Amino acid sequence: MEEKRTAENTDRGISALIEKLDARHSLELGEYESLIRNRTAAALLARKASAVRQRIYGRDVYVRGLIEISNICKNDCYYCGIRRSNRACDRYRLSEQEILECCAQGYALGFRTFVLQGGEDAYFSDEVVCRLVRQIKQNHPDCAVTLSLGERSRESYQRMFDAGADRYLLRHETADKAHYEKLHPPQMSFDNRMRCLRDLRRIGYQVGCGFMVGSPYQTARTLAEDLKFIEEFQPDMCGIGPFVPHQATPFAKEPAGTVELTCYLLSLIRLICPNVLLPSTTALGTIDPRGREKGILAGANVVMPNLSPIAVRKKYELYDNKICTGDESAQCRHCLEQRMESIDYHVVTARGDIRGWRDPH
Ligand code: 5AD
Ligand code: FES
Repeated sequence: MEEKRTAENTDRGISALIEKLDARHSLELGEYESLIRNRTAAALLARKASAVRQRIYGRDVYVRGLIEISNICKNDCYYCGIRRSNRACDRYRLSEQEILECCAQGYALGFRTFVLQGGEDAYFSDEVVCRLVRQIKQNHPDCAVTLSLGERSRESYQRMFDAGADRYLLRHETADKAHYEKLHPPQMSFDNRMRCLRDLRRIGYQVGCGFMVGSPYQTARTLAEDLKFIEEFQPDMCGIGPFVPHQATPFAKEPAGTVELTCYLLSLIRLICPNVLLPSTTALGTIDPRGREKGILAGANVVMPNLSPIAVRKKYELYDNKICTGDESAQCRHCLEQRMESIDYHVVTARGDIRGWRDPH
């Protein structure tokens, strides 16, 4: 009896925390940790997050055409399938011409944002990337260009911005330094990652951070730190998806993250940053056939279908069983449109900048 009452009290406490977060967009670290440990009010949280999302973005879903430009990477992150040490990975790099063709095809399919993502491949020097960005902007002046090319110098980020790049995605991966060091080899540094995010912000990009849900050694505490970091950094975008093991990495035998916790965190992030552009990720669609729909219903408002040439898709394998590797761009585009319609949300043809954005270029 006594025990039951205590449980009810904590559940009431949890609901109160959700109300408080909805009102103030801020909590103490320990409060975030409680919300992560006790997820009994998940339904309330999802309702609140969905209401906030609908107030700001309606039932619109923004689409980004993802072009995976290279799987060559100098890094060796323990979780990632395209890490340098993976000898079995069949390496490729798209030519400038191929990338421009992907964009043209994407434009015809209604995409108004192109995301150039790749491993840290030295071939993509500032000169090459700037030329590409200028060319894409010239061909499609009404489109946004998002880069996701890892850690670079401030000068490099500045040059690419000056060439016309609008946004940059660089997941922080974890806001806990000790945790970061368990996911990465000693050559990589948490401090440099954070330096990159700050530089990107100062330069004027719309900046995206993010992390994997259920990565090895993650705890309620480290997730609370991620939420506090997001609250303080106020990213324009936030990419979160479940960790999914890749068979040729040191984390091959680790369990995947869950849909339940990923959706719960998407809802929390929506309440922390009401305007944030929040993708329902491919990784979420990989661990659950309706994962992306569930992410949207939890408060996400972006999907990122693949625009890479079919011939290379299977090779950009960050984790096992990645979906959409055998489908044409047009198929993915239509598939997602139908999936969104099935939950009464609508894919729109728009750049999809964060609410309130003024172009600094
Ligand atoms: N599972 C899920 N996400 C992964 N990423 C890399 N490897 C994996 C994996 N095994 C994510 C990282 C990276 C982004 C491009 O993909 O968070 O920042
Ligand atoms: Fe690629 Fe459905 S989104 S096949």
